[in-house]
Amino acid sequence: MTVPLIVDVDTGIDDSLALLYLLASPEAEILSIASTAGNVSVNQVAANNLAWLDLCKATDIEVTLGAQVPLVSPLMTTEETHGPRGVGYAELPVSDRSLSNRDAATAWVELVRERPGEIVGLVTGPLTNLAQAVRIDPDLPRLLKRLVLMGGAFQHPGNTTPTSEWNIAVDPEAASEVFAAFSGLPEARLPIVCPLDITETIEMLPHHIARLAERAGSTSREIISEADASDIRSTASNAVVRHLSDAVRFYMKFHRDHDQGFLAHMHDPFAAAVALNPAIATLRTATVDIELNGTLTRGTTVADWRGMWGRPLNAAIASTTDPEAFFDDLIERIGAMAARLYP
Ligand code: RIB
Ligand code: CA
Repeated sequence: MTVPLIVDVDTGIDDSLALLYLLASPEAEILSIASTAGNVSVNQVAANNLAWLDLCKATDIEVTLGAQVPLVSPLMTTEETHGPRGVGYAELPVSDRSLSNRDAATAWVELVRERPGEIVGLVTGPLTNLAQAVRIDPDLPRLLKRLVLMGGAFQHPGNTTPTSEWNIAVDPEAASEVFAAFSGLPEARLPIVCPLDITETIEMLPHHIARLAERAGSTSREIISEADASDIRSTASNAVVRHLSDAVRFYMKFHRDHDQGFLAHMHDPFAAAVALNPAIATLRTATVDIELNGTLTRGTTVADWRGMWGRPLNAAIASTTDPEAFFDDLIERIGAMAARLYP
């Protein structure tokens, strides 16, 4: 069954993997890719989106430019996590394709109005564009078939402050407005939230890249080594494998340098997989709100699991999954696409 998608990203390394996963998925009908400032500037995010689409020969997919800055907070970016251009060590050819004439929020609103009840919205970055779209059309939550977002941390440490996760921390007001707007939907249409609690259990290791390179029929056995110097670049014969490998190597070094091991957490590709098939995760409903005023806790997602606030539900929080089944699926899809594109 085809899944029409609006994909809103702050392309970074794991957003890149999410885009590759969706481009490799025959059931994914990507209607539009919205660029949001986050990991890097919105202009760089948009350039990364165009570059990955060019590499995957998907140049018919619209890329829109979103907000330059969050609703209230000053913009913070994290080049130390994703590299100066947001794609690690990858040196993607710069696209000569133009961005869409409409901005991200307008694309959100126009698309859901064109196809009411059909579209799955996937957000793997800050929620700025979606919040702006809901301000334009408050009916948007009911016009979407479902929202899936990567964000938050509940019974799990934050990665941006001790209690907050990056996508929410960059724009807490946007997150607060989005969770409020999506309150009270039928349970089967509540936003699916993929927090650090689950995404940090999905750890890409070098052997996963080696398996993907092999599935792609790439000549040299692609081994990312912890010993790789920072000027090492992939020699894989397959262009998708080469650029993906260079992106992920940077991310694995970042995780190692932050005492998490030589690995890469699959935050965004997991959310993308959930958008195509929510059944890969168990979901727990809750009412979620965002701390906006705490001096120590601003940007923290708080889940009321037991109805203590007496407020309607607004989240189905992904709680468990099978990481190795996820990797088998991701490797097969992206590896097969890479082999198809660059035989
Ligand atoms: O906290 C992880 C999330 O923040 C991921 O989406 C990553 O790409 C960054 O946007
Ligand atoms: Ca992201």
